[in-house]
Amino acid sequence: MTECKAADTCSARKAHIASRKPYYRELRAGQKIKWCACGLSKRQPFCDSVSHEGTGFEPIEYVAKEAEEVLLCGCKQTKTGPFCDGEHSNLPGGYKDEEEPQNTTLVEADADGFARLNTPCYVVSPPAMSDAYALARLVAPETGAQFQSQFYLTLPAGSSPVLASDVGDVVLWVRHGAGVVEIEGRSFPFDGSCGVYIRRGEGFRLTASSPLAVYVSECPGGNNLSERAEMGANFDEAWPERIAKIDEDARQAMGPRYFQVLLDDRHGLRNTAQFIGHIPRSKAEMHRHLYEEALIIISGTGVIWNDDFRAPVKAGDVIFFPRKIRHSLQCTCDEGLDVLGLIHPGTNPGINYE
Ligand code: FES
Repeated sequence: MTECKAADTCSARKAHIASRKPYYRELRAGQKIKWCACGLSKRQPFCDSVSHEGTGFEPIEYVAKEAEEVLLCGCKQTKTGPFCDGEHSNLPGGYKDEEEPQNTTLVEADADGFARLNTPCYVVSPPAMSDAYALARLVAPETGAQFQSQFYLTLPAGSSPVLASDVGDVVLWVRHGAGVVEIEGRSFPFDGSCGVYIRRGEGFRLTASSPLAVYVSECPGGNNLSERAEMGANFDEAWPERIAKIDEDARQAMGPRYFQVLLDDRHGLRNTAQFIGHIPRSKAEMHRHLYEEALIIISGTGVIWNDDFRAPVKAGDVIFFPRKIRHSLQCTCDEGLDVLGLIHPGTNPGINYE
């Protein structure tokens, strides 16, 4: 009989589902754990030394190299044991709808367009197109972000200044418009929505052939996007693919939802992912992530919730989700919500916990 290390190596047997959500744990540097792979241990998420006997599954050992926060798989269907890979969302009933919380307060946007829930979570509506190049700050340390920044760039015609971050990778989402993005002397034409990747230290300039509206993210963030006097010529040839487009064949299911990763470490990004997703009319159960997330509403309408407050969202808005804060996004329209997400630190937008 073949001994199974985890669910992915044993197609004949499925491990027992101990929990439909991962277990959040804080590990000390050097701490050794034995993760239960069979799902039968009485000491979840750890092995109890006896329950796996005769199941064909063996526990997986892991030693933390440094102090770290981890999500240990509870459903035992992960392909990256001992860690959750988001597979729990694809279990029958794994992505449950939830009733709207009672007695929540509706939050209105302030004069700057920010609707803040009682956590650092908020919704912000970007400004309208201006008469000339403009850059508005949507996500920043001042608004509660620790790991990413986001700006809204509008360019009715002509070219932007040369912009660059010497601290973080830069990721663009072209909301609308056509033109060219020049990166360290290399030109990439685009027409309509797409993701663009610019490596840390590279200068870039946008030129509009029709009015441009672009979300500009910086990971790690900290408002380090600055103007340069001139374009350089130091394009990083090791990472030549810089434009990512929506590709229906690349979608991954996540319960009744789906997502497609546009840009990640395959393109050179470091511990960051840009993705699009679709949410049908539904209200997800409350959950949280270990990454910080900025979610752009591409189309549709919905409501963002936490336990006490709620705020409406519409096309163009950006929702900022801090790490480890409970929240839920509801789609309130029949067409569904199409969203564009940017997560950091992290590369799998399918991983969430209660
Ligand atoms: S809990 Fe098993 S994959 Fe997430």
